[in-house]
Amino acid sequence: MVDLSTRLGDHPLQTVLVAACGTVGSVVDFARTAVLEAYGAAVAKSVSAEPWAGRPAPRVAPAGEGMLNGIGIQNPGIDAWRAEVGGRLRTLDVEVWGSAVGHHVPDFAVVASGLEAAGVGAVEVNLSCPNLDGGPMYALDAGAAASVVKEVAAAVTVPIGAKLSPNAVDVAGIAAAVVDAGASWVVLGNTVWGAGFDVETRRPKLSGVVGGYSGAPIKPIALRCVWEVAQALPGVPIVGCGGVRTGEDVVEFLLAGASAVGVGTAHFAEPRVGPRLLAEITAYCERHGVARIEELIGAAVPW
Ligand SMILES: Cc1cc2nc3c(=O)[nH]c(=O)nc-3n(C[C@H](O)[C@H](O)[C@H](O)COP(=O)(O)O)c2cc1C
Repeated sequence: MVDLSTRLGDHPLQTVLVAACGTVGSVVDFARTAVLEAYGAAVAKSVSAEPWAGRPAPRVAPAGEGMLNGIGIQNPGIDAWRAEVGGRLRTLDVEVWGSAVGHHVPDFAVVASGLEAAGVGAVEVNLSCPNLDGGPMYALDAGAAASVVKEVAAAVTVPIGAKLSPNAVDVAGIAAAVVDAGASWVVLGNTVWGAGFDVETRRPKLSGVVGGYSGAPIKPIALRCVWEVAQALPGVPIVGCGGVRTGEDVVEFLLAGASAVGVGTAHFAEPRVGPRLLAEITAYCERHGVARIEELIGAAVPW
């Protein structure tokens, strides 16, 4: 029997899998089709202080082996979110994390306190949305990212995961800044900027033209981010995320230095992917004499 549990610092997770934000709705709805016990945590769709309408259609499009999305984080705002799903989170067979998003630094803290009051086990700070205070996307700027995390850390007692962007040039520098500001772990990472065009209609595949690229093709980019941060900041817990489709993909992220691994786009093709991934991870561990999944964290063998 392989032990598939893990920890992010001193925060225990029942399995190494995390259902990634934006791909499992509010988790409450996902519970109807998925097997929640397969995950160590499931992250509810990002929420802002006020309702956001999101971008007009088209907002998602297939792109090779991956997908483009430009949803614009449509959400009802924290008050409506709490009224709709808040009381139901503790009834689920998985720890639910909330995800806070905002256009201005103080918004994040407002959302994070609402998420904590609703009973989430941790708050992910989604630093990958535009910063309307005049700077670039928070996750591209160490100072801006740190100021958001600092506000959130002052507002909640649950652990904070800082969700970073593979579009940052110096992802390890940003990770150092957010940990210094109070993040308990980093999530690496969000989608990669991308675009696509329909050659028959000549229209962009997304109404906003540029959106987030996710799925299998981004796995090497996410692995590179995990590796860089694990090398630069040993001891900082990492949730790897990007392109996971198989148990061996999960093992790759662990070897690179992640302590837990997010699964996102794979849910759209296979909502019950969780138990399959756990079976494949277990088979790998049995083949390699691994009794505890944590033995694989950072266990890549150097040349
Ligand atoms: C349709 C869609 C919506 C997403 N919405 C969010 C979101 O609201 N907040 C967030 O932090 N990440 C969001 N993500 C990013 C995923 O959580 C994940 O980081 C990314 O897709 C990479 O993982 P994957 O290749 O396994 O999908 C979204 C991804 C997709 C495909």
